[in-house]
Amino acid sequence: MMDLKTALNGFTPETALVLGSGLGGAVDAVQVESRHPFGDLDGFPVSKVSGHSAEIIAGTLNGHNVIVLSGRVHYYEEGNPAAMRGPIAALKEAGVNRLILTNSAGSTNPDMAPGSIMQIKDHINFSGTNPLFGEPTDKRFVGLTSAYDKGLRKTFRRHAKSLDIKLHRGVYMWFSGPSFETPAEIKMARRMGADAVGMSTVPEVILARFYNMDVAAFSIITNFAAGMTGAELSHTETKEIAPQGGEKIARLLAAALKEGL
Ligand code: HPA
Repeated sequence: MMDLKTALNGFTPETALVLGSGLGGAVDAVQVESRHPFGDLDGFPVSKVSGHSAEIIAGTLNGHNVIVLSGRVHYYEEGNPAAMRGPIAALKEAGVNRLILTNSAGSTNPDMAPGSIMQIKDHINFSGTNPLFGEPTDKRFVGLTSAYDKGLRKTFRRHAKSLDIKLHRGVYMWFSGPSFETPAEIKMARRMGADAVGMSTVPEVILARFYNMDVAAFSIITNFAAGMTGAELSHTETKEIAPQGGEKIARLLAAALKEGL
């Protein structure tokens, strides 16, 4: 066991990328310098969710140093909202000041079909919990008025346009999972202003802002949310559809990093 900074052995990443379910393919373009299973690193809990590998990949993407977290732990695994605090603290310690998060999500918007990608512009924490419960300092009162960095959002939109990738924009609502939502919950979510629903990302955003990192986040729409089509939802569907959106996000990231973000 060692800490991430030591494991990186002088490699200094500025940007870290968290890959959600079925998005592992998004790292194919990374020139790998080193790989570190979460189990070897201090503070990194190992996820047991299928479709998630569990390692850090350090390397370069278009000449820029990046760290990729292939897999993450979720609140629903152990009921711990701060499950990602160790990893995000370790990234900060290793010099990361920009966190790019991806997830799979259900769409509440009939015009945003499976396979689409959505830039998260804001979120609704519907879980009733918070990763900063127990934080004893006044730093716990993190402002979230501009949680999703405006400059990064603009940069990604510009690249999406020039790559001819349709990038939806919307509000992500965090449900605890692991069961999917009910049709009634999805009706409620839509009325409350959600465009997509999912089981991750919001705790990481809160933690990243706590550690003063800039944040960008994207949802890959793997399904219409519960009740919208009558179909039952499954994790198999998430794993099957996610790579479609993952490919678009990988291209978007590569283009943005090439310009230094
Ligand atoms: N709900 C919650 N999480 C999800 C969904 C969904 O419909 N699809 C993929 N992750």
